Amino acid sequence: MSGDTTMFHGLSGKTRSDGPASAEIERRGGAGVRETKDTAMLFPEDAVRFWGEQAEALVSWSEGWSSVLSGEKEMSSVRWFDGAKLNVAYNCIDRHLARGRKNKAALIWQGDCNDDVRVFTYQMLHMEVSRFANVLKKYGVKKGDRVVIYLPMIPELPIAMLACARIGATHSVVFAGFSAVSLRQRIEDCGARLVITADHVVRGGKVLPLKTHIDQALSTLSQVLNCIVVKRGDGDVSMQEGRDLWYHREINCIDILPECEPEEMAADDPLFILYTSGSTGKPKGVVHCCGGYLVYTLYSCQYVFALHEDDTYWCTADIGWITGHTCTVYGPLGLGATTLMFEGIPSYPGPDRFWQIVEKYGVSIFYTAPTVIRALMRYGNEPAEIHDLSSLRILGSVGAPLNTDAWKWYNTVIGQELLPIMDTWWQTETGGIMISSLPELGGGQGCAGGKPLPGVDAVILDENGQEASVGVTGSLVIRHPWPGMLTGLFGDGREYLVNYYQKFPGMFFTGDSGCRNANGCLAITGRLDDVITISGHRIGTAEVESALVSHTSVAEAAVVAMPHPVKGQAIYAYVSVKDDVGQDDQLIEELKSHVRKQIGAIATPDVIQVAGGLPKTRSGKIMRRVLRKIAAKEYNDFGDTSALADPSIISDLIACRKNEA
Ligand code: WTA
Repeated sequence: MSGDTTMFHGLSGKTRSDGPASAEIERRGGAGVRETKDTAMLFPEDAVRFWGEQAEALVSWSEGWSSVLSGEKEMSSVRWFDGAKLNVAYNCIDRHLARGRKNKAALIWQGDCNDDVRVFTYQMLHMEVSRFANVLKKYGVKKGDRVVIYLPMIPELPIAMLACARIGATHSVVFAGFSAVSLRQRIEDCGARLVITADHVVRGGKVLPLKTHIDQALSTLSQVLNCIVVKRGDGDVSMQEGRDLWYHREINCIDILPECEPEEMAADDPLFILYTSGSTGKPKGVVHCCGGYLVYTLYSCQYVFALHEDDTYWCTADIGWITGHTCTVYGPLGLGATTLMFEGIPSYPGPDRFWQIVEKYGVSIFYTAPTVIRALMRYGNEPAEIHDLSSLRILGSVGAPLNTDAWKWYNTVIGQELLPIMDTWWQTETGGIMISSLPELGGGQGCAGGKPLPGVDAVILDENGQEASVGVTGSLVIRHPWPGMLTGLFGDGREYLVNYYQKFPGMFFTGDSGCRNANGCLAITGRLDDVITISGHRIGTAEVESALVSHTSVAEAAVVAMPHPVKGQAIYAYVSVKDDVGQDDQLIEELKSHVRKQIGAIATPDVIQVAGGLPKTRSGKIMRRVLRKIAAKEYNDFGDTSALADPSIISDLIACRKNEA
């Protein structure tokens, strides 16, 4: 950006945004009273005006748009806020400095150990992000370059993201639980020349190596010129001369200027790539752009959580997933709120850790996943009861269907039957929350799923593309563009169209199934594709299968989801081994550890059944529904199995399943 950053202060005075305090959709009242908008009136004519108003109210632009939405003929190629310019880091930091938030806590970081706390005011965040942005520039990172960030939950993670956003580099955060192989795949796919990591991860009282994964990933990848390493642990790590640099040394370099002008970005310049699982073996690089993503992120966070100036907002998701991108970093900081970030795990040092943190910081908005609620429920009520949770105002849930038992516990033990519970449905691809059980939308308490936010045209369609009747399960589809929609899959235009726009031409297919109840609430029931949601994280069955068959003993593998009381779903793998391979417990452990090394711990199969054969049709297709039923211990009603080449395989698989613990 040339010269004066004051140009970001708005569209020649047109922008009214002042974060939560004066945004048009500011809510009043303790639990967040929202104006009810009639969603029906928004399509299609008023939607464009609506999004234009939100964009003006919530985001500071250095240049206005020539059109809010263009290229409407094809939903897959629409452009939001054509011609407009902005900088996302400016919106998340700089503009708050002049709005009385200079000394407000932007980021509160609670380390794994209770005494380990770091707080960044907006001013301090400005300094740290600017300095690190200058480090990136020093090592040649320019607008449009991709930077991979492989960091645990430490403040340098959002700092690195915002530093990239400041200079216009596209970040791709890789969850620190992914293995070296997964990391390498992502670095290679996005063509990053600089990566950011830490020496160690500190979690649950343990110090685990992280830098070694980068070393392994880069050992066969020459494209990466520099690796910046944050010091988190005490142990030694090997640093490759000329390539590896310590974060703390670089940032303290005297020749690094503290100021860094925010780069002026077009609304449709990419902000980040986030890899997620789909039905193929290769993860998809979902691309989000600066303008649309920021507008939708701020809109959805503000609408659902009704942020107040003094809220302490805690989203427990790891920033390596979209929930953390949107709800820990860009949403709350863009709105000028205080976001809390936690390095550790819910059970360390005791099962009350989360509630101790809520009490310690007076958390008012708590946003987590059903799997976390179910895990915490198992410890009983006492861990929550010994803490003062009266600061809580809103509870939220995301990532998987919120089952009734989990909802009831959340409502009674944590919410004291007083707090609204927002179930929220969305995806990496949607950028922000799309469906919520907000009482104001008519979702109501106890409703899983909910209603689309104003401006979101989500419906359940049957196979013929007609709206499914009440109670009938169908595909969840978005019929009209929204600003947070992904703009593509990195380097793969064809897969983008096939994945999202082929099943229902001209509409966005989410990959999820659901049904509508009599109140118009949409209950989301699960994936229609071969994706498993484990503890709220997406893993493609094809990814796990290709990891398994890459082991020398495995001839063939088929992976399905099985129900799990805490994780929601878990991985059940059927493998057939090569003729000369013996079948024993050691092989199963070896295969589990092989998958861990190939993908990461979250993809480890809970059960591996070594099968004599897989149920295949005469044309060679594996009949997965049979495998899913056996994994779920449902042994009747397999439907039509006449196409199977060898139906006797089913009884062998059942016998083997019955023998398992
Ligand atoms: C599932 C996470 C039921 C769904 C933000 C979706 C849900 C996938 C819910 C996206 C919910 C998310 N109820 N299912 N409230 N929220 N899902 O991309 O299958 O990591 O497609 O984004 O999680 O996972 P992703």
